Amino acid sequence: MAGGLGTRLRPLTYATNKHLLPVYNKPMVYHPIETLVNAGITDILIVTGGPHAGDFIKVLRNGEDFGLSNLNYAYQEGEGGIADALAQAETFVGGDNCTVILGDNLIFEDLTPAISSFKSGAKIFTKTVPDPERFGVVEYEPVGDGISRIVEKPEIPPSSDAVTGVYIYDSTVFDKVRTLSPSERGELEITDINNFYVEDGDISVYKIQGTWMDCGTFDSLAKATEVMYNDTHVFEEVV
Ligand code: G1P
Repeated sequence: MAGGLGTRLRPLTYATNKHLLPVYNKPMVYHPIETLVNAGITDILIVTGGPHAGDFIKVLRNGEDFGLSNLNYAYQEGEGGIADALAQAETFVGGDNCTVILGDNLIFEDLTPAISSFKSGAKIFTKTVPDPERFGVVEYEPVGDGISRIVEKPEIPPSSDAVTGVYIYDSTVFDKVRTLSPSERGELEITDINNFYVEDGDISVYKIQGTWMDCGTFDSLAKATEVMYNDTHVFEEVV
């Protein structure tokens, strides 16, 4: 999912799409694509939008940099949110299950076991963070570790477990999207979709143990760049 206007990163996003900005030595969107490819997913749809959507073709082409022989693209009209972007994938997904990853999320963990063990409903990927108010946050049931709901960017977070931008859904997700109404920020929220699965008791959780970062703000983009720089140089020293 690589749409939106990237308003939080202006003026960087006046000339291109947020997800094509550099994170050290690669465009941001390379990282989530690599996460999918490393998990064995090769049938990939890029959903983008906004005035710079054409830039994706110039950068990603047919996915050669990822060892792919082709990539698919869809265009999201307007800035209707992540769930609206997901709706653009309905024909592509058909009746299959699908893994969704946000184009500004960096995950350094092999997601193969989590993806291959998916059976039905939805699976979300959480990470314990120091600043949960920036994200969707898990509210747990009073007893046990069941989820009572997910709260989007709460002023007072009910836990420190952020819902990251990776989700696995069964094919009922598209019917669920059709029942959504726009949130206060005027978007169809992926958190509302996840809460439908919570209400159905059909959601599971995978806790990411490795590094997870998003790059949607100046600080998080700078941090991600620093981490990638350090990671690359540590790797070179070991080699
Ligand atoms: C979105 C989701 C949020 C999630 C975050 C992860 O937020 O709405 O629940 O925690 O991605 O990056 P957004 O980046 O649209 O503000």
